[in-house]
Amino acid sequence: MIRLRNISKIFDDQTKAVNDISFHVKKGETFGLIGTSGCGKTTTLKMINRLVEPTSGLIKIDGKDVTSQKPEVLRRRIGYVIQDIGLFPHYTIKENIATVPSLLDWDIERIQARVKELLELVGLSPNTYADRLPQTLSGGQQQRVGLARALAADPPIILMDEPFGALDPITKREIRGEVRKLFEQINKTIVLVTHDIFEAFEMCDRLCLLDDGILQQVGTPRELLFNPANNFVDSFFASNRFQLELLSIRLSDVLTENNSLGERELYWSPPLSEEHTYHQIEEDKPLYNVLEEMEQSRESNIKIIHRIDGKVIDSLGFSDILNRFQTYKKQLKTGGDHG
Ligand SMILES: Nc1ncnc2c1ncn2[C@@H]1O[C@H](COP(=O)(O)OP(=O)(O)OP(=O)(O)O)[C@@H](O)[C@H]1O
Ligand SMILES: [Mg+2]
Repeated sequence: MIRLRNISKIFDDQTKAVNDISFHVKKGETFGLIGTSGCGKTTTLKMINRLVEPTSGLIKIDGKDVTSQKPEVLRRRIGYVIQDIGLFPHYTIKENIATVPSLLDWDIERIQARVKELLELVGLSPNTYADRLPQTLSGGQQQRVGLARALAADPPIILMDEPFGALDPITKREIRGEVRKLFEQINKTIVLVTHDIFEAFEMCDRLCLLDDGILQQVGTPRELLFNPANNFVDSFFASNRFQLELLSIRLSDVLTENNSLGERELYWSPPLSEEHTYHQIEEDKPLYNVLEEMEQSRESNIKIIHRIDGKVIDSLGFSDILNRFQTYKKQLKTGGDHG
């Protein structure tokens, strides 16, 4: 879908912001660009939609050299959410979202319907927000509008630069979860820049880690964590390793195989909800979230129940999960990453 080949960017004949990087973003995936401040993330992102021109190298989208297309035409197919939200302050929310559709000369009814649909999609009531100005919204609400604007003309590609950067940790986590679900529904190709590694692990299918403009490794979060290409990659994750490991391994990974996927159902026990109905657990939940829920509800453990006959075939407590996590990790390190 998006292919960068030997891309370099030198600013003012001296700053080598990006140094000979190559990678490929697959259709439908969320691809993260990570690394410390100044490592070249934003520059790399901006070369994809030609806000910055590479000093050398080639960028292709769907096999077509981006320099062969007019930037305005190219950008209609690429939504862009910028680092500091960047809503137009004198435009209402409605007008902000309608920017690209207006440029594309959509008729008024179609634009209005689209604005309404998008505001609902990002969880803002159109009646309340459509006619307000950006500064009357909170940071988190503005960020949602920024996302709605990027989605407006339904572009197949979306570039996002620190889209949740301005938010407090709680709101950030909430919006992140919602946006990830949204991404799963709409099936776009997304390039996400972030210096928050937890965000990267939660949102991205694959990551590209840069240091000082040089590509260190491209791979799934797990590959970077358990099979680092070099010492830099290893030490980049060192101080958050335990939490990242728990985020990158899922509940289904540590369940025994004698009850195969599809035949089993997982429930919290005792039930978490007040109505005493059993509360089902999704198997693809990261262990981090499972343990967190368990800790918050104290005595819960997980019952694994056979789907057909309803028998309990396994039961897991907090320490069982941690033990299985340790065993699974050893397998990952010795046997390589099969997930
Ligand atoms: N227009 C410019 N002119 C000169 N130097 C620039 C320009 N834009 C970026 N740079 C330099 O290029 C390097 C990479 O910048 P870039 O904005 O890509 O970093 P980043 O990884 O996005 O950092 P951050 O996490 O702080 O946003 C930095 O050293 C920066 O000073
Ligand atoms: Mg940046």
